Amino acid sequence: MSTDTAASSVAAITEYHQRSKHHLQRYAPGPGGLDWANQPDPFRVFEAAPKVRLPLTADALTVSYAAVSRGRYRTPAALDLDAIAALFELSLGISAWKSFGASRWALRCNPSSGNLHPTEGYLVCPDLPDLKAGVYHYVSRDHQFERRALAGPRFARAFPAGGVIVGLTSIHWREAWKYGMRAYRYGQHDCGHAIAAVAYAAACLGWQTRMLGEWGDADIAALLGQDREADFLGAEREETEILLWVGGDNAAPPPDALLAAMREAQWLGRANRLSPEHVEWRDIDRVLAAAVKPRTEAQPLRPHPELPPLAEPLLDLPAATLIRQRRSATDFDGVTSISAVAFYTMLDALLPRPRFAPWNVWAETPWVHPALCVHRVVGLAPGLYVLVRNARALDPLRQGLRREWLWQRVPDCPAHIPLYLLIPYDLREAARLISCHQAIAADSCFALGFLTEFDAPLGEATWQYRRLFWETGVLGQALYLEAEAAGVRATGMGCFFDDEMHALLGLESTAFQSLYHFTVGGAVEDPRLTTLPPYAHLARRGES
Ligand SMILES: Cc1cc2nc3c(=O)[nH]c(=O)nc-3n(C[C@H](O)[C@H](O)[C@H](O)COP(=O)(O)O)c2cc1C
Repeated sequence: MSTDTAASSVAAITEYHQRSKHHLQRYAPGPGGLDWANQPDPFRVFEAAPKVRLPLTADALTVSYAAVSRGRYRTPAALDLDAIAALFELSLGISAWKSFGASRWALRCNPSSGNLHPTEGYLVCPDLPDLKAGVYHYVSRDHQFERRALAGPRFARAFPAGGVIVGLTSIHWREAWKYGMRAYRYGQHDCGHAIAAVAYAAACLGWQTRMLGEWGDADIAALLGQDREADFLGAEREETEILLWVGGDNAAPPPDALLAAMREAQWLGRANRLSPEHVEWRDIDRVLAAAVKPRTEAQPLRPHPELPPLAEPLLDLPAATLIRQRRSATDFDGVTSISAVAFYTMLDALLPRPRFAPWNVWAETPWVHPALCVHRVVGLAPGLYVLVRNARALDPLRQGLRREWLWQRVPDCPAHIPLYLLIPYDLREAARLISCHQAIAADSCFALGFLTEFDAPLGEATWQYRRLFWETGVLGQALYLEAEAAGVRATGMGCFFDDEMHALLGLESTAFQSLYHFTVGGAVEDPRLTTLPPYAHLARRGES
């Protein structure tokens, strides 16, 4: 890329980032109301693609969440249809249906802003028992694969034994329909959540997950079929995001060998149209173009400091139960407190332990440092804290934020958890205001902003913009699950006033930006909603 092109891509990303901020006086450009006639179909299907029904096998997995999230992996499951089915059931599958009056909607193991689910999932596999080599699209509603491509014999030779590839793509229109310009950010957060969801589900099967970060977007599109324009005629585009290697520790197939083998594949199916009409969001088109990732060199694993084992969670639940009971709280009681130990364990779970989920899939330099508004943690002064996830960032943070901050280590916090008190203060009202006036930010035990190094990673490559959001999504997924395991509940908050958060921290440059917010507390259930099991509708249709 020429210096001029690189500079104009950085300018395009910076412009998008600034213009997609919510401000106290005005929200980022949006559609100005919901056009229900054009509400996107939450389920993409490929018409005329052969279907492969998947068995519901997650309930048979007895491994506990504590074992999965603390790296005590079971013997790896055999790579067969039952295990692959559980991988998708526990990552991108439906976790429950909710109903209110005549309305009924599905929830999934992976959360999504506005429950709009822009993320689509694919499997690329060699010949497996009951599954032919090729590319499959996952339909969560039906818990089934659609065979998009049947691979030839050359593909089978190019694909090493011992693993499969999971591919993720985004349909940004799904989010843009409701959120307009800011939707691209939400799609990236959702992708980060999905990446971690796959890593946790794989861990339930004793499998490792690794990001195939060297693949370029064009490579991924060629592998998964997003570049086949005829298959998407009249339908919403899918933007490629990432490929994950799931299985053993062995080498994943290099792009060239696999793409060459895919040339003899037979492609099947055409994408459905999700909305009758669309609004074009040129800002999203521009940021998409500026953040395209070319193929890069495979990076060696980054060294991370050795950490002591993560403390056990309060609740010892089967992983499959905990993953499917994860919900976003819509209301907190404003009284529940958590113990300091539970709080430290949740923070500890956000530190990279690259040998197990979710950090095995994110063995990258940590760029994200949660800035926490602590409200109700027993034994901890309410106030503003920062968890510095990478020691290298401590000095830039001290220089970039308000000079008066205390930067005191928290005396009772385990020494390996780099938690700093900036100021003791009741920040409930500030948290509510910053979070688009959402009461869940004040009525919780703590709320946080994922404060992210910004200029430095963008200076490395513009596609890092996407990865910064992904990292916050991976962190968010860890926090969602750890909150459930601690007997409380979390909610991701994409709606916040960016620069109000920066003003609170005393941040005046773009060395750091807060990219995603979270809140954790004692949830209040909405008694008007009925919860239904995830796949009862399949049983009714006589499917297993
Ligand atoms: C990126 C992202 C942003 C979100 N933003 C908000 C928010 O600002 N306020 C809120 O109440 N919930 C928010 N949520 C929670 C979603 O509404 C929730 O994930 C979705 O309704 C599905 O419900 P579930 O998480 O219980 O499966 C967000 C979730 C994600 C992943």
